[in-house]
Amino acid sequence: MGLTYRDIPPFPDYIEGETDHEYMAKSRAVGPLVKDRLGIVSAFSLADMLEFNDDRWTRQIELEGMFASGVSGGPMFDFVSNVLLFANGATHKNRRTPLTRTFAHPVVAALRPEIRRRADALIKPLVGTGQIEFVDAIASPLPAKIIASIVGAPEDDAERFGAYVYSAIRGLSLVSEQVRAESDRDMAALTDYVGGLLEDRRQTPQEDFMTSYLEKVADGPLDDTEIRAQMVGLVLAGSDTTRGALTATVSQLMQHPDQWALLVSDPDTHAPGAVSEGLRFDPVIGSLARITTEPRDVHGYRLPASTFVSGSMLTALRDPEVYANPDQFDITRQDHPRWHPVFGGGPHRCLGEALARIELEEALKALATLAPDMQLIGPPTRLRGYGAVRTLTPMTVSI
Ligand code: HEM
Repeated sequence: MGLTYRDIPPFPDYIEGETDHEYMAKSRAVGPLVKDRLGIVSAFSLADMLEFNDDRWTRQIELEGMFASGVSGGPMFDFVSNVLLFANGATHKNRRTPLTRTFAHPVVAALRPEIRRRADALIKPLVGTGQIEFVDAIASPLPAKIIASIVGAPEDDAERFGAYVYSAIRGLSLVSEQVRAESDRDMAALTDYVGGLLEDRRQTPQEDFMTSYLEKVADGPLDDTEIRAQMVGLVLAGSDTTRGALTATVSQLMQHPDQWALLVSDPDTHAPGAVSEGLRFDPVIGSLARITTEPRDVHGYRLPASTFVSGSMLTALRDPEVYANPDQFDITRQDHPRWHPVFGGGPHRCLGEALARIELEEALKALATLAPDMQLIGPPTRLRGYGAVRTLTPMTVSI
């Protein structure tokens, strides 16, 4: 008799003080599949994570996450109903295609000098001021300012825009009623704000990203609510991911002074490798979840249709089948796969990878050039969580 879903072992007990990486490595040792208390089946290898993203036998979660959080209406619910990330099939394709075209690589690559200018402008005045809290002073404002400028928000609005973004995004996780209410309020404000920018470009077309997007969706199948939701989606998808990735990477560089010294010695050469390794070593995404659409045998267990499955990013990015010495932080590593797994796989693979890499590289180059003596004061940041976008704690540095 083959094994069934019911035979999949549970996650081991968490022992106070274990890091997320230690806990997931311990879980991986239990077996190739383990089940959590909600019945979600996790796998740990990179091959399994990519297999779970194959839409021939799984699909993206749609509103199930909202319902599981007890949410059945409101601004965040409306956003999730209309955005590409939580859609499947033709609906997803219709929402994704115009964005892919607007976000084509040459368009994004041309932003590099402007992104560097903004990174320099943010970091220069901080150098020599003593201690700063890295997340608030650099990692949060930089992605928010850049995405605000891409969607055409005036520079004076960037701070307000950033505040909406980081508050609204909290509503995608399991949160208290109070946080949910704040998130909904700021989601409504962000949606209105982005709606205003779109309306403005409709009235007065310009040579910019928003106008180009409106041209791509003209006469297409998307309605106005969907058009607005894709723009809001871009703003949200590009902000806290990049904030977390920058903080995590700088945190590792500060904890590995030899690697920081290498970056400082030649930022242009080493920044791309530092970015890839920072994204791998302590990833900002904890896992990618899907729902099976047909029965399937996985590692000898028969999974029925409608099973929630989750590929752990934490373990996939330390898969010994893929990376030599996976627990070593090495910015010169040559064994990153051609498609960095942190950006996912299959039809939902990240649309913003090129932009994220440019932002992270230019921020690291600016820091290594302007603040080569930067040091940690107190504990490094701690990324927490096994699912979706991980949370992070503040980190003080002397600059
Ligand atoms: C380090 C930074 C980033 C990481 C690690 C990251 C990671 C990811 C991952 C893993 C997915 C797929 C999620 C899934 O399959 O369920 C995704 C989707 C997406 N990302 Fe990113 N991302 C980053 C930055 C950005 C940026 C800067 C943008 C654009 C401004 C962006 C836009 C998107 C969009 C629009 C999607 C949805 C694609 C779809 O559903 O078809 N991301 N990202």
